[in-house]
Amino acid sequence: MDAIIVGRGTLEADNPRLDVRLPGLEARSPERWLLTSGAAPEGWRRLASPEAIGAMDAAQYLMVEGGAQTARAFLAAGLVDRLLLYRALHEVGGEGPALPELAEAALSADLTWNATDRRPLGNDTLEVYERSGN
Ligand SMILES: NC(=O)c1ccc[n+]([C@@H]2O[C@H](COP(=O)([O-])OP(=O)(O)OC[C@H]3O[C@@H](n4cnc5c(N)ncnc54)[C@H](OP(=O)(O)O)[C@@H]3O)[C@@H](O)[C@H]2O)c1
Repeated sequence: MDAIIVGRGTLEADNPRLDVRLPGLEARSPERWLLTSGAAPEGWRRLASPEAIGAMDAAQYLMVEGGAQTARAFLAAGLVDRLLLYRALHEVGGEGPALPELAEAALSADLTWNATDRRPLGNDTLEVYERSGN
């Protein structure tokens, strides 16, 4: 990925580094962007809305890392080409999934998406969906 983005809620909850820590590959870290209607702190580039991604002129591949509001905003804007869903065996939290539209049944009923890969990763499962017509 050339760039990676999280929303203000994720910055406040996690303060993520979003960098590459593999020895020798540190220089391959993606540009770090923050989706916010406000200002971005030092070390972050600010995106005012998903529709403003033209501002990322050096990035061909953007990873939308979350949280749920941010993911939903990019999905609603029709700007997602590929979904990489890492599912654990159990849901955590008492309020159900943060993005019910990404539940397996919802995705298989949605003609926007084609399932292209599915593989176990330890106890988790990676599911890949591509936008139809890509
Ligand atoms: N499991 C995972 O893979 C994963 C990944 C990432 C985060 N998380 C978790 O998700 C939680 C945070 O998620 P969240 O949904 O509450 O918040 P979020 O998506 O991280 O951030 C929400 C904020 O993003 C900005 N934003 C959202 N849509 C926007 C739009 N269309 N235009 C401009 N700005 C927009 C707004 O910031 P302003 O209010 O500043 O305008 C909004 O308050 C945290 O607990 C974090 O740990 C989990």
